[in-house]
Amino acid sequence: MGGEGVSQHEPATAGTAAAPPVFLMACVNLRRGGQEPSCTARGALEVLAAIRAAVGRDPALQDIAVQSCYCFGRCAEGPVVRIGPGGPFFHQVTVADVPRLLEEARRFQAKLEASHSGASHSGAAPPDPGADPAP
Ligand code: FES
Repeated sequence: MGGEGVSQHEPATAGTAAAPPVFLMACVNLRRGGQEPSCTARGALEVLAAIRAAVGRDPALQDIAVQSCYCFGRCAEGPVVRIGPGGPFFHQVTVADVPRLLEEARRFQAKLEASHSGASHSGAAPPDPGADPAP
């Protein structure tokens, strides 16, 4: 996110669902002891610690859960973090990107709540909580 080549992709969206809790999911996979590209080999543990610390410090973020997971299939673009359920992926995330990531999570949460409450009638489909991550 913070460096050159940063990218973000949105999963396909379809269907409707109740507004579930928002979470940040950080891949902490280490492939072949660090011999192959992976999120942990590229700094994922530091990113996860920074996310947890920031969420712990900010009462406004208390309803955003932080989780670790193993592999979104974008290992060479790690660290990879996803906003869920069904939200965007962020690649090449660094500790410096954490404030922006949290802002994106808040925005995603507001969108989910608006779609759940019926306040948003834009015609756009809400995020699909069951969407599979891209390979
Ligand atoms: S190791 Fe993180 S996406 Fe594969």
